[in-house]
Amino acid sequence: MAKSPYKRFFPWYDRAGRFFPLKAACFLFVLFPGVGTAITWAVEGLGPRPVTIAIHTVGDWGVRFLLLSLAVTPFRRLFFWPKLIFVRRMLGVAAAAYIVIHFCLYVVDQKFDLGKVASEIVLRIYLTIGFVGLVGLLALAITSTDGMMKRLGKNWRRLHTLAYPIGVIAVIHFMLQSKSNVSEPVLMGGFFLWLMTWRALDRARVEVTPAVLLAMAIGLTAVTALGEASWYALASNFRFERVFLANFNPPAMGGLRPAGWMLLTGLFVTAFAASRAESFRLRGR
Ligand code: HEM
Repeated sequence: MAKSPYKRFFPWYDRAGRFFPLKAACFLFVLFPGVGTAITWAVEGLGPRPVTIAIHTVGDWGVRFLLLSLAVTPFRRLFFWPKLIFVRRMLGVAAAAYIVIHFCLYVVDQKFDLGKVASEIVLRIYLTIGFVGLVGLLALAITSTDGMMKRLGKNWRRLHTLAYPIGVIAVIHFMLQSKSNVSEPVLMGGFFLWLMTWRALDRARVEVTPAVLLAMAIGLTAVTALGEASWYALASNFRFERVFLANFNPPAMGGLRPAGWMLLTGLFVTAFAASRAESFRLRGR
């Protein structure tokens, strides 16, 4: 049967036009929060300030997809899962799409007054930073096609390392716009530091064994807790040690804090990587 030339436009096929379950699952995953928010908005509303809620939800998912796209390379290596590479582009493009929608919703929130939008972007530092991130994400999304990859050659890789500074921008924008609660931006900052640490070790050709992953989990949990306490001490005059020591309270008192989530995630990655390495070793015997 002749191969349909249109199949390459559908994200659930591979280059040979075969159905690719991992890509299909990833496509549903990236679609779900956006479609879910739109349906909830249409059916039951999003409360008294629906546009603000939508800006926040879509912005949150934009950051999550950006960090997940950065996690593809470490995870495919640590989990012996090379096929993960086939969803990296989809995650990155999803991050860009969510942030474009985030920006459009902001324009709606400003009642389409583009002069006001422009002046706010110039005057408010968190919006200036966000706008630089938006332009960067757009540049990466536009140049993510196979044709662009070929055309840019070696420069493509160089250009796409911009995803890391954009990650920094995303976390700073997230922190700066948060008013009283910085739990999620602190956690995203912790995850981003984990990704940067893995990359630094990889560049230095250090073998990232389960022991190294365990050290990363513990060390970066401490950094996350210190970062959160410092932020509250500087931005809201809370006492540093009170915020820091709150990490040792039982989770029932106000849920797990960012450092707790950081530790759980770090331990999960360590255990999963160790079990994958072991099963790989046994199979290779
Ligand atoms: C890389 C680019 C960007 C990322 C990753 C991003 C992400 C986020 C995130 C995660 C939030 C917080 C959501 C929450 O609190 O749950 C947020 C809030 C917000 N962002 Fe962005 N954003 C970006 C660019 C922009 C741009 C270009 C604008 C507009 C010019 C913008 C306007 C806003 C506004 C108005 C808020 C809500 C602030 C508030 O409620 O006071 N963002 N963004």
